[in-house]
Amino acid sequence: MSAENIDQLIEEAKAFTPSSKEDLEHYRLRFLGKKGVLTDLFAKMKEVAPEQRKAYGQQVNELKLAAEEKLALFREQFEQDGDEGRAQQDLSLPADPMATGTFHPLTLVRRQIIKIFGRIGFNVSEGPEIEDDWHNFSALNFPPEHPARDMQDTFFIDLHADPERYQGPLALRTHTSSIQVRVMENQAPPIRTICPGRVYRNEAISARAHCFFHQVEGFYIDEGVSFADLKQTLLYFAQEMFGAETKIRLRPSYFPFTEPSAEMDISCSICKGKGCNVCKYSGWVEILGCGMIDPSVLENCKIDADKYSGFAFGMGIERITMLKYAIKDLRIFSENDVRFLDQFKGLG
Ligand code: PHE
Repeated sequence: MSAENIDQLIEEAKAFTPSSKEDLEHYRLRFLGKKGVLTDLFAKMKEVAPEQRKAYGQQVNELKLAAEEKLALFREQFEQDGDEGRAQQDLSLPADPMATGTFHPLTLVRRQIIKIFGRIGFNVSEGPEIEDDWHNFSALNFPPEHPARDMQDTFFIDLHADPERYQGPLALRTHTSSIQVRVMENQAPPIRTICPGRVYRNEAISARAHCFFHQVEGFYIDEGVSFADLKQTLLYFAQEMFGAETKIRLRPSYFPFTEPSAEMDISCSICKGKGCNVCKYSGWVEILGCGMIDPSVLENCKIDADKYSGFAFGMGIERITMLKYAIKDLRIFSENDVRFLDQFKGLG
């Protein structure tokens, strides 16, 4: 083979740009493969006149180096495009981003509520989701067949209850006031506790209602606890949760287990009281129910109602979360859509 021909091959080897891995492999076979150009050229070394052998050898070597260099360069590039190659090539590169979880917004808000009340001495109590009639209703002044039971459409459980442990039929608890009864039965005042948990009501599912939701209820029992204590505690909570400028108002209401009872509104956290569709242009939104614990409830739980008084309150975590993050449809909380959940990344 003439020197010109080898020069041409060198040029060809240097000019090559593969468009695919296969392309590169053809290139490798053509120049560096066992039956490739270079094997051929090396084999022909013997036939070259001795005085030209040195120059020939140098040219062939140049071709070999050019082909090897090209091959190495593009191999690296193709490998960098693939995941494996990347890791093999440079271990100092940042790893692929990993999908991390987030706290569910309801968890975030529950933790925040617990923190806010924790700062003023409330601890946390929990209880079972399957309750007996006594803890969910009777101890809380809901007499049998009383229409107040209809306020909370109940899921009953068709089980043969152990009559020693459970009184009356079993049900999924309709509120976490049932935990309050359990705490009052087992602890002596002063008691200051909040009771977070999931509750169940047989309601049609819509943007504003679900068959299960989450509550935090709380109560404080001691000597001389008054409605003023209730009001101040809830004002503190509202301002910690929704901002220092938040106002509260209490409207008379009815719950079987509190007397007097009230519902608490806060100045609308979305429009700051100016009026919007969340507060129905009233400037106020309801966030919880509350009242002074009815003395007969204290007595039901063997607490001396002449000596002690207490207040109680209960709120839905969904409601608080919807107001805090301007969420319009409650159903989204149980859909597990990561596009929704991801928006809470880094909070809490
Ligand atoms: N248990 C009530 C409810 O679920 C809320 C509440 C708790 C009201 C404590 C007053 C006092 O609606």
